[in-house]
Amino acid sequence: MTIDLHGRSYLHELDYTANEIRYLLDLAAELKAAHHEQRETPRLTGLRMALVFEKSSTRTRCAFEGAAAHQGMTTTYLDPSGSHIGHKESVADTARVLGRMFDAIEYRGYDQGVVEELARLAGVPVYNGLTDTAHPTQSLCDVFTMREHSGRPLHEISFCYLGDASDNTAASLLAMGSLLGMDVRLAAPRELWPDEALLDRCRVVAEGSGARITVTESVEEGAAGADYLYTDVWVSMGEPAELWKDRITQLLPYQVNAKTLAATGNPDTAFLHCLPALHDRRTELGADLYERYGLDGLEVTDEVFESPASLVFDQAENRLHTIKAILVATLGGQ
Ligand code: CP
Ligand code: NVA
Repeated sequence: MTIDLHGRSYLHELDYTANEIRYLLDLAAELKAAHHEQRETPRLTGLRMALVFEKSSTRTRCAFEGAAAHQGMTTTYLDPSGSHIGHKESVADTARVLGRMFDAIEYRGYDQGVVEELARLAGVPVYNGLTDTAHPTQSLCDVFTMREHSGRPLHEISFCYLGDASDNTAASLLAMGSLLGMDVRLAAPRELWPDEALLDRCRVVAEGSGARITVTESVEEGAAGADYLYTDVWVSMGEPAELWKDRITQLLPYQVNAKTLAATGNPDTAFLHCLPALHDRRTELGADLYERYGLDGLEVTDEVFESPASLVFDQAENRLHTIKAILVATLGGQ
């Protein structure tokens, strides 16, 4: 079957078929090998992309800029305070302006509806660089990293996400894992389980893909035998800092630490995190949380973060290759 993604936006995992995602994963593997072997050929020379960020970013911005540069594209970065979008100019007007000036748009912000409106009106491919409810370029990278590290097909791989299972990263892993027929576990307190409508949708998708979905309050049940443990920050961008106190109480039992790794019973379990991670006191926020709550690490201990089980920097690098695959597939010659 021929896969043609030319001209498509990438807004949510479930907008794509499993075969289309697998095509992107294979393309990312090819592009990664070509880049490492210094034989990459630019396929997007002369194209231009706008990078609109209403929230801060290290990896996503750098991956889009790096991938574009390697492929011959230029980028224009609009920072969280640097454009009129939403303040003085509507999303609809911004979409039509950027669509006249650029060949593609990346957008990071709050409401998923905004990235969808941009895509509807811009007339060029739009990529979701994170919203409050989805982080699909992250989940593409995550399953790429799992497949690369395990060397097994994704439907033979299990992962357990622990922590705030109501956030964007968890939602995207749930959607991606369901689409690709994976063994998906989410371990979290009931108040922080994923959105019910998304879960229902994923359960339907899982019937077709063979995915297994487990949402549980039990760390032991979620972690048993898992190939990967995954966690993310306990208070996401856009959420009030006042949430830290309650989140720490709710989520400390779901911290990824040596005990959690041992609870898998699987000596080969590896650790993943989208980053940034609060695993020590070497950040302003980490130092402040230590002062207030006496915790050195939050969602993951430094011991696990720095252990041989941790793949987090391989995972971070893979943002570059997987985002490049999206650009080449949607903008490259047909
Ligand atoms: N994982 C991720 O999206 O990181 P940034 O916020 O640095 O882009
Ligand atoms: N859930 C996190 C992901 C950061 C990449 C956030 O939205 O802040």
